[in-house]
Amino acid sequence: MTTRTSQETVQLADGVSIPLVGFGTWELEGSSAYDGVRAALDIGYRHIDTATGYANEDRVGAAVRDSGVGRENVFITTKCPPENAGRERETLDASLKALGVDFVDLWLVHWPPNGEARPETWKAFVEALEAGKTRAIGVSNYSIAQIDELTAATGRTPALNQIPWNPFIYDQRVVTELEKRNVVLEGYSPLKRSELGHPVLKEIATAHGKTAAQVILRWHVDRGFVVIPRSQRRERIEENFAIFDFELTPEELRRLDALGA
Ligand SMILES: NC(=O)c1ccc[n+]([C@@H]2O[C@H](COP(=O)([O-])OP(=O)(O)OC[C@H]3O[C@@H](n4cnc5c(N)ncnc54)[C@H](OP(=O)(O)O)[C@@H]3O)[C@@H](O)[C@H]2O)c1
Repeated sequence: MTTRTSQETVQLADGVSIPLVGFGTWELEGSSAYDGVRAALDIGYRHIDTATGYANEDRVGAAVRDSGVGRENVFITTKCPPENAGRERETLDASLKALGVDFVDLWLVHWPPNGEARPETWKAFVEALEAGKTRAIGVSNYSIAQIDELTAATGRTPALNQIPWNPFIYDQRVVTELEKRNVVLEGYSPLKRSELGHPVLKEIATAHGKTAAQVILRWHVDRGFVVIPRSQRRERIEENFAIFDFELTPEELRRLDALGA
């Protein structure tokens, strides 16, 4: 069993630590983005996931500022839309302006532009890192082959790949290949793409007095995957972070892994 604290982090190859559990903000607009991030920071989350494409960076930035938690204590990820390939620097500068920060903690290529790895875009990411505008760089929705293409072209491997992930789509081969390359796996849509009513989930949840959503999120934490659940309801934002007072047994973890088989 793995004991984890709510502020547990994973080290990225860029030398930066990313909190295992973050707050996702896709589809949170206007006041729901602001209120959601304020609630998350109040509850104890210290990692927020946004993107140029979510059109909420200004609200996320305002919430971080008003929270009183301190910029240095919040890990902020944003992402460059694939259609902005070729305009990477302007895109990041606009993100920094909207967020009201001097740098982000992690900047991701949101999707492979036109479905391609696009090493030129990755070179611009390396430049942004060297310029201090982001503390780490990575990709999202990239295949292993596309990650290798970026490494071969630039000598720099993305520190992280953000991909759809949960026990139902768990694939040990992906884990192994990313580990070999020292690429951290960050999972998205942990709840939306899961079958929350599945009997195995229900049984394990009942055994711990927890919800199915909490079991899924704890599975990520116990397996060392970064996870970024999203909700616009304070009680669920709270529920999704109340996962550090129980542990899944090795047998339960194996049963959850097997849901992806
Ligand atoms: N890189 C990419 O391409 C990409 C793609 C998708 C997502 N993401 C990131 O990953 C984050 C999370 O993924 P997601 O937003 O797609 O999905 P998610 O976090 O898996 O699920 C969100 C949905 O689940 C509901 N929910 C939240 N907590 C719940 C709970 N405890 N019990 C039952 N239902 C619950 C929410 O409804 P309520 O709001 O009503 O609670 C919402 O409808 C995003 O917000 C975004 O930051 C990245």
